[in-house]
Amino acid sequence: MSDQKRTALVTGGNRGLGEAIAQALLDAGHEVIITHTPGNRKAADWVKGLAAQGIHLSAYGVDVSVYESVQELARKIHADGRQIDILVNNAGITRDATLRKLDKANWDLVLRTNLDSMFNVTKPFVEAMMERGWGRIINISSINGSKGQFGQTNYSAAKAGVHGFTMALAQEVARKGVTVNTVAPGYLATEMVAAVPEETLQRIVSGIPVGRLGEPAEIAALVTFIASDAAAFMTGSKVSMNGGQHMQ
Ligand code: CAA
Repeated sequence: MSDQKRTALVTGGNRGLGEAIAQALLDAGHEVIITHTPGNRKAADWVKGLAAQGIHLSAYGVDVSVYESVQELARKIHADGRQIDILVNNAGITRDATLRKLDKANWDLVLRTNLDSMFNVTKPFVEAMMERGWGRIINISSINGSKGQFGQTNYSAAKAGVHGFTMALAQEVARKGVTVNTVAPGYLATEMVAAVPEETLQRIVSGIPVGRLGEPAEIAALVTFIASDAAAFMTGSKVSMNGGQHMQ
């Protein structure tokens, strides 16, 4: 039996992993809303380009690190008579530097964007999911939140925090038909990973047993499963997909 059509919100859904997740949820028959950083013309043009190809999704410029910005988004979505059934907290950034070189601004920016966003984006939508008795919240963490990474005290701390958030919220909403899970991808063929210095990246890839970077679509397929009715008994889990780079 195929799932009924749901409405999904994917933060940072305009590129990289978020784009692949948005695409996979569209392919699964869902309505998809994405957010991108405010004023991002490239993202707006991308959505127009998709519409020209007959692929329709709604896109909003939202700063997920700012609570009011997300509340404004929730007001617009609800004003259009829509409710979010599937929330994918994907938006995230890196500001890599060893702790000695990391400044307070880049500590705060990464923590606000990657961890505070869990509160900011989940809070306006979770209540209605519980009232309707169905919901899926999927939080994107990282291999580096599980094992730590040289040069990423900020990112590793935030991504480890993501799963703490998942486990606590999963307990609070389980009786109401809402599941909360973490997906922890490894190194993927995305712009974010391409920003890692070439030599460092080669060293990292040589430590991946599968011998290559992951494809965003591989993670997106996993997210789509977790978003389905078939995954109703799965909650509070952290699912890793990293080519064997970190086994737990
Ligand atoms: N372990 C131990 N020592 C290391 C090391 C490591 N992994 N990497 C570097 N070092 C050593 C260097 O050999 C060097 O030693 P010496 O001073 O004795 O020569 C010292 O540490 C300084 O290293 P760098 O020259 O690299 O320091 P830097 O300040 O120039 O660069 C850095 C630091 C920017 C963090 C750089 O190392 C880097 O970009 N690392 C990659 C971080 C990374 O993997 N980011 C992932 C981004 S993608 C992502 O996050 C998505 C996801 O979820 C997976």
